[in-house]
Amino acid sequence: MQTVWQGNFCKTVAIGGTLISLDSASMARPMDSRLHDLRAIGECKRVTITCISEVGWWDTHVLLADLMKAGGPREADQWTSDWSPSNAAGSCSLVEVESLTGAKTKFLVDTGWNVNYMDERLKAEGVDRMLKNGEIAFLYITHEHLDHFWGLEAVLRYNPEIKIIIPSSFQPPAMSYLGGADFAAAGPKNAIRHKGEIIKFQVGEITELMEGAVSVGFDVPIILKIRGEQSLYFNVKDAGLVLVTGCCHQNIVTFADYALNNLNAGGKLYGLYGGLHIAPFGTLEEEERGWIEKMGAYGFEKIAANHCTGLLAVQRMAELGYPLVKGTGSRGSQSDLYVGNGDSVVFG
Ligand SMILES: [Fe+2]
Ligand SMILES: [Fe+2]
Repeated sequence: MQTVWQGNFCKTVAIGGTLISLDSASMARPMDSRLHDLRAIGECKRVTITCISEVGWWDTHVLLADLMKAGGPREADQWTSDWSPSNAAGSCSLVEVESLTGAKTKFLVDTGWNVNYMDERLKAEGVDRMLKNGEIAFLYITHEHLDHFWGLEAVLRYNPEIKIIIPSSFQPPAMSYLGGADFAAAGPKNAIRHKGEIIKFQVGEITELMEGAVSVGFDVPIILKIRGEQSLYFNVKDAGLVLVTGCCHQNIVTFADYALNNLNAGGKLYGLYGGLHIAPFGTLEEEERGWIEKMGAYGFEKIAANHCTGLLAVQRMAELGYPLVKGTGSRGSQSDLYVGNGDSVVFG
């Protein structure tokens, strides 16, 4: 492996003999200098994921206009930019992991963006009741982007003491948001102070979540002046690894290669769920086409790519014959080509 560092940014990463060239905006730091030393993560029996909401925003034109007004993707600061409130929706999923002994653990991945919309979506899927009953073990936040984190109050309304797992890269505004804050210029408001335990998973490390499940924090610079996204890997017995992502700002190739080169789970990539940040704004770039084509080599058996996986990207995957899990295309989601709002996918 050879790694070349320039300033804060790693320009090339050779992982497992494959050289990946990445620009400073899309690459991740190498996680572990002992890539040959594979990490055992145990096994689980089954993972079931229900999409509470995958609609990040309603109108891409409105989002892009707001973004450009704020200085563009690299210059805009999400916490001070002026976002059109009626355009906000958000990403949130309910994960249920069944252990080899049959014990089930439920947790939420992200909280969406628009608090009132998220409240409706949580109610529609019965998650409000699960939160009140203490059935949801914890809330796992992938990254602090507006469409994944600003809907926090909708979750806290039903359980202000819920345990929250965040990446260590969370910045001061995000931390203050947990404690209750109003960012009037940008719009997010959390009127409910979180009173439970906050656990920071170190970016750049593998952290065990439960038997058969780990979180990995990718130290990646992201648009809107955010840094770091954490993603999940589940090792489903007799099936293989299931990869679950919020936005996959580390990119799908880095995400998948990381599993093959760092996790001791039989080397089989079985399932994929979540946002892949490919064509999120309605155009499919050359580099993104390349990622989609590379995905074919991993041998996924179930692909449930939604959220910031643009429709053009999903359509390209369908053309290539990838095993896409279809949804209902209802409750706000725009196509049945992917697992959308209220749809579930079972891995294992
Ligand atoms: Fe997103
Ligand atoms: Fe994101």
